[in-house]
Amino acid sequence: MMTTIQNDVRCDTFAFKEVARDGAARAGELTLTHGTVQTPIFMPVGTVGTVKAMRPDELVDEVKAQIILGNTYHLYLRPGLEVIKLHGGLHKMMGWNLPILTDSGGYQVFSLKELRKIREEGVEFQDHISGARHLFTPEKVIEIQETLGSDIMMAFDECPPAGAEERYMQESMARTTRWEKRCLEARTRRDCALFGIGQGGTSERLRRQHLEELGDLPFEGMAIGGLSVGEETQAMYDTVEFTTPMMPDHKPKYLMGVGKPQDLVECIARGVDMFDCVIPTRNARNGHCFTSRGDVVVRNAVHRDDLRPLDPDCDCYTCQNFSRSYLRHLLKSREMLGPQLCTLHNLRYFLRLVGQAREAILEGRFEAFRKRFHQLQAEGGS
Ligand code: GUN
Ligand code: ZN
Repeated sequence: MMTTIQNDVRCDTFAFKEVARDGAARAGELTLTHGTVQTPIFMPVGTVGTVKAMRPDELVDEVKAQIILGNTYHLYLRPGLEVIKLHGGLHKMMGWNLPILTDSGGYQVFSLKELRKIREEGVEFQDHISGARHLFTPEKVIEIQETLGSDIMMAFDECPPAGAEERYMQESMARTTRWEKRCLEARTRRDCALFGIGQGGTSERLRRQHLEELGDLPFEGMAIGGLSVGEETQAMYDTVEFTTPMMPDHKPKYLMGVGKPQDLVECIARGVDMFDCVIPTRNARNGHCFTSRGDVVVRNAVHRDDLRPLDPDCDCYTCQNFSRSYLRHLLKSREMLGPQLCTLHNLRYFLRLVGQAREAILEGRFEAFRKRFHQLQAEGGS
């Protein structure tokens, strides 16, 4: 396998340092163009240039988010690159001064199923807004992400469905490797990091094979793609467990699209540094909240007269000021404040959870933290 990359552009604002390790769990410090991130970290998802229902000042001051995620596919279609350029990039348009990671669009166009055609050159697709035809290539998605001004760009990959056949996986992974090399050749900005993505489903052999192809390439970080696509939870944990040791330790390890609080704790235990997921924001809008004592579906009738806060252990604005009863009323009345308060709580809960995991790793008591977390979750939320 030839792994020489001709292009010598690297990100010179990027640094990653492992500061502590406890079992396979680790704490680190990730320096990016717009700031330093303490890992393990959870990244709230801001698909279309907003973390739904949150103002940037709330994300910074109350959630204490350190980095958020944006989507190349959605932002390219709407409002489009011309409008984003006019603002001077995605950070300025959104009023967000901290780091942004953007996904490459690979995952999004592959979920279009009927509307897409995969070729060596890239993926041709019809968008979900106007139905217009587009071609995403590795070169194109790097150009888009550099125009957005991402702190971390993701390589263009294919995320095969769970249970894809061996022959299809081989073909797909080989093409993804070629695409990812083209991404490295296409970069021009020295202030945008580029992460590679390993695929291989739940097979240890395929994961090793793909990471052997990608592991020596000059990416600033590496991601585990192709999980949380319908496989069993235990299969996801097992895959993370045998995959993180195959990834270079001097680079951050990012598990894409995961997960619930339990998944964060279990995958931090298995060596993951970075996570993103729509679960805390999406579930909040339906009145599904996560707490230190398990899930609370605050929309449910059992909370009609419930004067308790969502989570007695939470320091967020929602838990400091409002009852479950009032939150239920807001959601049932379809008042905007309901989703806002629940989103604020869920995101704060996720950020506090990874922060507590980090403290536990730094103090060498991660196993006790993990055990206590599961005990409290089992007590039940309502
Ligand atoms: N988000 C969740 N999984 C994936 C994946 O496999 N690839 C990309 N690009 N994004 C993802
Ligand atoms: Zn709270």
